[in-house]
Amino acid sequence: MDIKNLVSKMTLEEKAAMCSGADFWHTKKVERLDIPSVQVSDGPHGLRTQGEGGGDHLGLNAAIEAVCFPAACATACSFDREMMYDMGVTLAKECQAENVSVLLGPAVNIKRSPLCGRNFEYISEDPYVAGELSAAYIQGVQSQNVGTSIKHFAVNNQEHERMSGSSNVDERTLREIYLSAFETAIKKAQPWTVMCSYNRVNGVYASENSWLLTKVLREEWGFDGFVVSDWGAVNDRVEGIIAGLELEMPGGCWNDKKIIEAVQDGTLKEERLDRAVERILNIIYRYVNNKKEEVFDREADHRKAEKIAEKSIVLLKNDGQALPLSSEEKVAFIGGFAEEPRYQGGGSSHINSHKVTSALSLAGEYGCIQYAEGFLAEEDQTDEQLFSQAMETAENADKIVVFAGLPDSFESEGYDRVHMHLPDCQNRLIERLLTLGKPVIVVLHNGSPVEMPWAKEVQGILEAYLGGEAVGKAEMEILYGKVNPSGKLAESFPRRLEDNPSFLNFPGTDKQVNYAEGVFVGYRYYDTKKMDVLFPFGHGLSYTTFAYSNLKINKETCRPGDTIKISVDVTNSGQREGREIVQLYVSDKTGTAIRPIHELKGFSTAVLKPGETKTVTMELDYRSFAWYDVGQKDWYAANGVYEIGIGKSSRDIVLEGKINIEGSREKFPVIDRNVMIGDLLACPITAGYVKGNLTKYLQKFSGGSEASEFDLLIENMIKYMPLRSLRSFAGMTNEQVDAIVADLEKLINTSETNRVFSIFY
Ligand code: BGC
Repeated sequence: MDIKNLVSKMTLEEKAAMCSGADFWHTKKVERLDIPSVQVSDGPHGLRTQGEGGGDHLGLNAAIEAVCFPAACATACSFDREMMYDMGVTLAKECQAENVSVLLGPAVNIKRSPLCGRNFEYISEDPYVAGELSAAYIQGVQSQNVGTSIKHFAVNNQEHERMSGSSNVDERTLREIYLSAFETAIKKAQPWTVMCSYNRVNGVYASENSWLLTKVLREEWGFDGFVVSDWGAVNDRVEGIIAGLELEMPGGCWNDKKIIEAVQDGTLKEERLDRAVERILNIIYRYVNNKKEEVFDREADHRKAEKIAEKSIVLLKNDGQALPLSSEEKVAFIGGFAEEPRYQGGGSSHINSHKVTSALSLAGEYGCIQYAEGFLAEEDQTDEQLFSQAMETAENADKIVVFAGLPDSFESEGYDRVHMHLPDCQNRLIERLLTLGKPVIVVLHNGSPVEMPWAKEVQGILEAYLGGEAVGKAEMEILYGKVNPSGKLAESFPRRLEDNPSFLNFPGTDKQVNYAEGVFVGYRYYDTKKMDVLFPFGHGLSYTTFAYSNLKINKETCRPGDTIKISVDVTNSGQREGREIVQLYVSDKTGTAIRPIHELKGFSTAVLKPGETKTVTMELDYRSFAWYDVGQKDWYAANGVYEIGIGKSSRDIVLEGKINIEGSREKFPVIDRNVMIGDLLACPITAGYVKGNLTKYLQKFSGGSEASEFDLLIENMIKYMPLRSLRSFAGMTNEQVDAIVADLEKLINTSETNRVFSIFY
């Protein structure tokens, strides 16, 4: 298909119209040229496809019946790339069957605060996990010729004032934390589309931010699809097209006119409009030309949703092997979520689930279970009668399982939580049940961490998150030991909200939110501060145990361009088959930058029979060690020693090794009039020039004294002086300063060390 040729046949009006949707979910067609309309649909963990009319972006109106898979807060805990790929394939087949060209997901915004109402849709507090898992999901969906829309680009980490607020973040933090998952997914998986976010980034709306949408996304990362606005995210349409926003959603024609006028009055070059239309048509035809007839079996997908939930549920605590339950034991199920699980979040990802399996509905198949509602799942209440019934039911049991969690009204798209508590009635009931002196196990249904005032006293905690429509079956399989739990947390659980690094700056005021904690997000903060947490990042238990040995690093040094292989033997040292998630953390020991104590840079999984050992291998490259050096506008890992930690969680590092970085470029000072003389002398490329060419000026400071005195003087007095101060103190002219700046720039740009580095980056 010659898209350029097609665009050349379109009128200005047709091209402008192509840049906004026909309605909530369709692109416009151009009958004259046989350009078809295609449908898009939310996303990310199931299809929210709406029929004609009644479209909305908050999950309020009807949608077709579909299969609700576990939300990203849950699937992230599987740390399983293959599973994410497979879930993507399954979703894409449903898309093909329902004529959906682009599935609106994955959502990879970083979990900055546990309060963000939409954390349940997001993957992790860690950009490496979010990048790896979203790339696998995208590859899975797109393998079936259905597109994805990675969202929300970028720095949309709260719902409060999301449509107008400015996320104010320094560039290093942006690159290392908030953009990094997008970068990985785009470079590895090329999503067909990127959805820009509602918010402003450092003052400029994401929908008209050319730095984000063009410089970073396309020029640096090589994105080749189109950018679509989040629904209603457009501020100035013409600025948007200029910045690199191609498609406005939902549809409407109010902006088509503006585009036409802008071309006519010369504000918008027609080539830019042509380019936007080309990008949109490329994707439309990529889908249309590969359209497949597909049917899907909802029952089979429901079972798949169950298997995914089984890999995602995290066993947080299991004292005295309270779990698994035995069919011989008398068990009390307490809590409305046993009967009606909370398994998905509210808003645009809300699925009209084809069916829902609750744990209670399966009780008869597993053991001897009595049930009491205990509290109303939907609200905070003090119904003494419900409490008393719960206590009576629990008194007759050997073990008590409480199905607790957050009600829909507590967390959703559209607003943030204001605290991290469960409803008080749930905490009170758990405290009362504990007075019976029987083992209490809490099963949690929530999209984001909660405080657990009873955590020390209960014997077991199972984090089911929002585990999709089959969550009840997955819970029963794990509670009764038919399945061995293997998920691990993709986020930290702080003891209390106040411990969270964003606490003082969340959600901001006056439409300004300052990301003052910088790169210290989640475990990067808690671990560096050695702060006690409730459950650390990466934590998760199993019904078996694993032993780690034989850490091998295949090279002693890593140079730019190298790939390093790290291998470790993992042995199932317990009695049951199990799956272990192995984590690799890198720790910069060079002391050349302010960095978190360690950062996750690899993970892998192994399924092991009792007594079995497998070697798990992970790869690192130069970038795994690097931080973003704004001065150099590049990723940079200083030469020197780095530690490799193999962990069961970020707080349980079981094996350690070392590696050296060599051949990295020297860290050059930024050359301008404000460069400090001390920095120029410390840099091997510029030191000679300064000594050779500036001595006569610098000596003025020592009254023309001898060289040895001059060295001392430089060290102690003029190292912090900017070059420009030689005008005031050493009689240099403006022209001389500029000439020196030009010489120094040339020196840096042509140095060998610099070139060695830039081959790779
Ligand atoms: C959400 C997006 C969603 C879109 C369409 C917006 O409110 O932020 O994630 O894809 O609506 O429903």
